[in-house]
Amino acid sequence: MTILVTGGAGFIGANFVLDWLALCDEPVVNLDKLTYAGNLETLASLREDPRHVFVRGDIADAELIEKLLVEHRPRAVINFAAESHVDRSIHGPGEFIQTNVVGTFRLLEAVRGYWSALEEPEKAAFRLLHVSTDEVYGTLAPDAPAFAESHRYEPNSPYSASKAASDHLVRAWHHTYGLPVVTTNCSNNYGPFHFPEKLIPLMIVNALAGKPLPVYGDGLQIRDWLYVKDHCSAIRRVLESGRLGETYNVGGWNEKANIDIVRSICALLDEMKPRVDGQTYTCQITHVADRPGHDRRYAIDARKIESELGWKPAETFETGIRKTVRWYLDNPEWVAHVQSGAYREWVGLQYGRA
Ligand code: NAD
Ligand code: DAU
Repeated sequence: MTILVTGGAGFIGANFVLDWLALCDEPVVNLDKLTYAGNLETLASLREDPRHVFVRGDIADAELIEKLLVEHRPRAVINFAAESHVDRSIHGPGEFIQTNVVGTFRLLEAVRGYWSALEEPEKAAFRLLHVSTDEVYGTLAPDAPAFAESHRYEPNSPYSASKAASDHLVRAWHHTYGLPVVTTNCSNNYGPFHFPEKLIPLMIVNALAGKPLPVYGDGLQIRDWLYVKDHCSAIRRVLESGRLGETYNVGGWNEKANIDIVRSICALLDEMKPRVDGQTYTCQITHVADRPGHDRRYAIDARKIESELGWKPAETFETGIRKTVRWYLDNPEWVAHVQSGAYREWVGLQYGRA
């Protein structure tokens, strides 16, 4: 059999593809538009691997998706493709509506056409897994209980509103057409290959470059952190055993204030790569203007996936953040190519300049 992954050159999608092919031999068709966030250098170890078929394309291109489905006959589609960065969505929401809403709609329609024409038992076994976020639930008061799956949707940013819209489309395609879907809503991920526009990798690379560590507002906003490979294991578990039409919240019970995250990174760097002047990296922390509409707190209640599907994360925050800092120290070339834009060169050579 085969699976079709969308957005598999991005942070989580690429980690998922790498882990999948390390764990089993089931081929992966990887459809990715290669926006600024798509990075084929992350998938370099799969370049000669016949189990990995990379296709540059857009989830909003229904014709292309229909063609790929007919050609590869996947047993499942896992939709990671999205515009994912909240700050970018504030600056320019258009692409978020186009990919996250229109793209998901087109993908659903193409998959519905393919799935409807399948014969049993392939039809009954087919799954569409939609990867979503805890941000669809909005923000939590300091002592409010963590987000359960029954929490109402209250998205606050253009990004989270576009993801909420995509979740609703997925839900509707199940209820109306019977499309066999499952949705995961995960908390903040961190780990290898994370694009350094997001908090954790940005702080690591800025610290090492001697640049300011920009903390938005008072830095007391809370996020709930999960090591990316634990998110990938949760997706595999939901794919195999999740109940159709259900949503599963994914998180590791790791609520942390942003300023504490930044301080932990500084402490690890102080230990693993001390500044030459002997000062602590915390001297680079700089408070800057707050993000407009900044959600104050996210927290995931992961009891459903834990009790129903027996999933548990392998990493604590302490083990995961140590591995992450180590990874960035050990992979300066990946970081340098992202920062210089050199990671796009292969895209240009292979596909021409878009
Ligand atoms: P990312 O921005 O690192 O990667 C997104 C990938 O999708 C990129 O490779 C990009 O080229 C591709 N893409 C964008 N538009 C596309 C389109 N129209 N067609 C095909 N490919 C397209 O994002 P990520 O952090 O890996 O997130 C992956 C998914 O997980 C997203 O759906 C995101 O909403 C969700 N999510 C992310 C987090 C997190 O903390 N990063 C947490 C929960 C859920
Ligand atoms: O909660 C899941 C979401 O987590 C995902 O759906 C998104 O795709 C992913 O980008 C992430 O969204 P956030 O906005 O929480 O992530 P980001 O890394 O941009 O910011 C994390 C927190 O750190 C947030 O409160 C804003 C703050 N921040 C961020 C940056 C980039 C700073 O204080 N300074 C910064 O420079």
